[in-house]
Amino acid sequence: MPTQISASVQTALLIRFRAVRSATLQLCSPLTPEDMMVQSCPEASPAKWHLAHTTWFFETFILRDFLPGYTPFHPDFLWLFNSYYNSLGDMPEKKLRASFSRPPLESILAYRAHVDTAIEHLLAGSLDEEAIRRMALGFEHEQQHQELIATDIKHALFTNPLHPAYIEASQPAGEGNATPLTWTSLTPPVPGLVEIGITPDPTAPDAFAFDNETPRHTVFLRPFALANRLTTCAEYLAFINDNGYTRPELWLSEGWSTQRAEGWQAPLYWQRDAASPTGWRIYTMHGFAPLPESGGLADTPVCHLSFFEADAFARWSGARLPTEFEWEYAASSLSTRIAKQNLLSTTSGSQPVTANFIETGTLHPTVAPQVPGLQQIFGDTWEWTASGYTGYPGYKPLPGALGEYNGKFMSSQIILRGGSCVTPATHIRATYRNFFPPATRWQFSGLRLAKDA
Ligand code: AVJ
Ligand code: FE
Repeated sequence: MPTQISASVQTALLIRFRAVRSATLQLCSPLTPEDMMVQSCPEASPAKWHLAHTTWFFETFILRDFLPGYTPFHPDFLWLFNSYYNSLGDMPEKKLRASFSRPPLESILAYRAHVDTAIEHLLAGSLDEEAIRRMALGFEHEQQHQELIATDIKHALFTNPLHPAYIEASQPAGEGNATPLTWTSLTPPVPGLVEIGITPDPTAPDAFAFDNETPRHTVFLRPFALANRLTTCAEYLAFINDNGYTRPELWLSEGWSTQRAEGWQAPLYWQRDAASPTGWRIYTMHGFAPLPESGGLADTPVCHLSFFEADAFARWSGARLPTEFEWEYAASSLSTRIAKQNLLSTTSGSQPVTANFIETGTLHPTVAPQVPGLQQIFGDTWEWTASGYTGYPGYKPLPGALGEYNGKFMSSQIILRGGSCVTPATHIRATYRNFFPPATRWQFSGLRLAKDA
């Protein structure tokens, strides 16, 4: 049922729509059309494909269902840019996305403009409540793909024999020394029951959450402790130099066989470099930099680890990875926690950056500041947890094809929390659940140690 929504709600949607859409193009501005065609690993997609697929999402789930008389940009685009929604029909194989030299980039940009105009038209009239919910999903979806564009282009440029930078840095990747590692004790109230996740409030439809964050439910936690900051490159180097990669007792069985088969000896983007004091250099969005013994890059959080490496490092440290529930309990208790974004208020889009997210422009994790308390809970690197990706008790996927968005991936994947230096600031929250298979390394994925109290 179309309902008359307030003018301020429509204005807020329009402002957010324009901001999200232009941020995606902004991210691609340092790229050549040739850069935007590269698909350098099976996980990645070409930037050009991301530009089209995010547009397809608005066309498929909003314009075709809610804008009467909408004319699709091109009939082939309706299946060409479907990622994985089998209930909508067949789609091209993911590994063939680099073969999309046609349609040309200018057609993809015209597709974006066509859909942008139609969405602006839709937002000028009365809006169905379901259309508003899907607009919110469309924004969050495009932000997920902004992170994927940054992640994928880093891998694409690293794979190039010239190893070009995405952009030259005005600042080095890291400066100074990280705050020393200390432990923060967290003691859930007796008898240890805490509330996890979020149940959407029908009276406050502005608080967005993905279906996999719902419903809010009770979890039992024992007292535990979390490291005050993320694990650094220097700390991870000590694990490498202590023969961490060749000691089977430190590894899960699948982790051992995977690192043997893949020949892993260090995180992704670390290369041997005889000219560097540590013998290693690290590729960043700003090109290669030598890894020093301490300070600077050595004190930045280690990233591009698989779950298996994060888990082995934690075992070597005499610690463990936190569960996703321990992490969320800690993140929700932080006084500096990031306020839930107020999607439908006119103040949306002006949320201050309170962590190292994509808006800082560092595009690399930075050194933890010398201040007390939990640091880097949000931003810098995603944090691998010890938790498998499953549905919360009472979880229901969204109805229809959008039910394929999250729920069908709930097998053999691990939860990551907190966002990274390429996550948009307004995208993340304490209940947010990211998920990848345990061998995944191309994400900005690191770790924070945990232990029993
Ligand atoms: C939640 C990051 C695993 O990469 O497939 C993009 C995000 N979902 N389009 C993914 C997503 C639909 C998703 N991850
Ligand atoms: Fe997608």
